[in-house]
Amino acid sequence: MEFNFDEVKDRRGGHRAKWDHMEEACGVSPEDGIAMWVADMDFDAAPCILGALHADIASGFLGYFGNFGPVTEAVCDWMREMHGWPVEPGWVRYTHGVVAGFGMVLEAFSEPGDSVILFTPVYHAFFRKAAAMGRKVLQSELVLRDGRYEMDLEALATQLTGREKIAVLCSPHNPGGRLWTADEIAALDAFCAEHGLILCSDEIHMDLTFPGVAHLPTAVAAPASLPRLVTITAASKGFNIAGGETGFAIIPDDALRARFDRAHAKLGGTPNRFGMLMTKAAFTGGHEWSEAVRGYIAANFELWRARIGAIPGVRVMDMQATYLSWVDFRGTGMSGDESLERIRLAGIGVNRGEVFGQGGAGWHRFNIAMPRTRLIEAIERLEEAFADLQ
Ligand SMILES: Cc1ncc(COP(=O)(O)O)c(C=O)c1O
Repeated sequence: MEFNFDEVKDRRGGHRAKWDHMEEACGVSPEDGIAMWVADMDFDAAPCILGALHADIASGFLGYFGNFGPVTEAVCDWMREMHGWPVEPGWVRYTHGVVAGFGMVLEAFSEPGDSVILFTPVYHAFFRKAAAMGRKVLQSELVLRDGRYEMDLEALATQLTGREKIAVLCSPHNPGGRLWTADEIAALDAFCAEHGLILCSDEIHMDLTFPGVAHLPTAVAAPASLPRLVTITAASKGFNIAGGETGFAIIPDDALRARFDRAHAKLGGTPNRFGMLMTKAAFTGGHEWSEAVRGYIAANFELWRARIGAIPGVRVMDMQATYLSWVDFRGTGMSGDESLERIRLAGIGVNRGEVFGQGGAGWHRFNIAMPRTRLIEAIERLEEAFADLQ
């Protein structure tokens, strides 16, 4: 089947955060601005997902969701076929999105005042959730080696205070889009074992790997991690259905799952009907769409990297997954504020680097999941904005 990712649609004014909040968050008007911030793609969802929603709405009944079995079967099939992880149905718990699942992990495995380890720069909502729940964040800054991020566990060992309870791996990594190797994941797990930490693996970007490379679930890379591992993930990023606010936790260990369940009982609830239906549809019929969208994003990235990376002083981090491109403007000699202001004046809404924690200053994150003509327009605006450096 052919999917038309080239079609440009006007997304403004329809309760869509990426456009309707852009002015407030980025100072860029949706009138003529290009939204490259919130992690939604500009593409329509897969036909199988839209079909499932249409059918449900046509039935006229919009009440509580029930009968989780077929959704869980779809989740388990997808995890096994696509990610090589034979997940058992009894290990799966549904959450109102992945950040809510992270909150449950904090509730289950730490107390207010305890610390959670984040490898920064990393997805900003982890900081917000930890702060909201009275947890401290210990930032372990990723080290740039040969243009890619690596964890520095030796340095981390010297930072520990004794209050750390949880380490969070963002895999694939946001921002930066790298896949961690089995050795790196196993080393992190050994670190967690040594220091008595729960390992929380956020794999929400698992279905956005580029052609030719594969996501490696932490459970598969490091089977020894199972007694301390909670994986939180969703169909939402890979299938562009984040508005359904539905994620799931996979917890193979019985004792860990019992602790998570107590937090779930406190903070969770019946899942979102549409989110569950979309998850089932994505994981049963979305194979072709998923492959097509990854190919489109990878081609967007090649174009983006070639042109933006050619601006003197600007470096685009190489990526193997996600559609969130992490761009280093420090070589221009500008501060993060200065480069951001140029980007803003060019009418492009992005996420400023500092919000991703230590190591983010001077960088900015660009969402490149958009029709190619629009991406080219964004590239041209940025080339123009930094033309004096040419
Ligand atoms: C690593 C990571 N985790 C979680 C989320 C958000 O998850 P949710 O919207 O399901 O809470 C995002 C969104 O971009 C993300 O990048």
